[in-house]
Amino acid sequence: MAFPVKRPRRLRMSPAIRLMVRETALTPHDFILPLFVKATPDKHFREPIKSMPDCYHLSPAMAAVAAEEAYAVGVPAVLLFGLPTHKDSRGSGAWAEDGPVQLAVQEIKSARPEICVICDTCLCEYTDHGHCGIVRGDTVDNDPTLELLARTALSQVRAGADMVAPSDMMDGRVAAIRQALDGQGFCNTPVMSYAAKYASSFYGPFRAAADCCPAFGDRRTYQMDPGNAREAMREVALDIEEGADIVMVKPALPYLDIIKAVRETFDLPVAAYQVSGEYAQIKGAAAIGLVDEVCNMIESLTSIKRAGADMIVTYFAVKAAEVLARQMTSCDDCSL
Ligand code: PBG
Repeated sequence: MAFPVKRPRRLRMSPAIRLMVRETALTPHDFILPLFVKATPDKHFREPIKSMPDCYHLSPAMAAVAAEEAYAVGVPAVLLFGLPTHKDSRGSGAWAEDGPVQLAVQEIKSARPEICVICDTCLCEYTDHGHCGIVRGDTVDNDPTLELLARTALSQVRAGADMVAPSDMMDGRVAAIRQALDGQGFCNTPVMSYAAKYASSFYGPFRAAADCCPAFGDRRTYQMDPGNAREAMREVALDIEEGADIVMVKPALPYLDIIKAVRETFDLPVAAYQVSGEYAQIKGAAAIGLVDEVCNMIESLTSIKRAGADMIVTYFAVKAAEVLARQMTSCDDCSL
């Protein structure tokens, strides 16, 4: 028997009932906050990033302050990106013991050891050509790059990182990193691999923020074609075989189908990265009054979780955690 006996609207008639039947609810524990750490002698350095409203370039010490603030509102983890003072063809700053990321790890772990510090493992912020590996001719040479990525991951873990997150998309990098970590006794340090990372136009604001735009060509010989879904399954399967502990899909909102397929096909925790362009679109549209920032933020994050993400890397982490804390204190305030 259908209408008029069956009326789905019955369960939408009050805020309390809507809350009771809600299938997907966000918590601050779902979020990972990316931070941009700059090599600078100024301990208190904190400068707004033009391409990413409300995000900052931070000194290692100020990164620790930001991580503590996020932790205080329930965000358990940060993801660190570095801006070195100088770059070279091999990206040697990536594994420097006194590099910005390595220093920030130390600052954060000594300020608050409970915070989970994840380091993005890649070379593009450190290479003078802006590519994610060693360049030979006009392309990135896969196999020699693996050793440099492994060296970078090892230096991050030696500095105290709780997890490494390779974002380069070289073939075999998870195995190379796993082997290097295990070889030095870090067998309990997880690898969160950017397993299905697309060659996306949504990275623009990040590349301006991290100064890692390729000097020539693009990243399409290593990052995935946006039209491909089955290939994402192969990429994820390979990373899992190589020893990945968490697999990531990136970007998030334009790739919800991929998040869902990965969630349904594999049993590892799935991360999704709401990238800089997704963030900037909401910020930009809200700034000129076209959308409501808070509602767009919560709805997009809820969609990413509903698709199957166990954790979400997002520049909104702190703001979303604050909004959720307010919502959870009152049943009346659940309109979002
Ligand atoms: C580095 C890296 C990028 C992002 C994360 N790690 C840039 C890229 O691949 O070009 C993008 C993150 C964002 O847009 O928020 N490989």
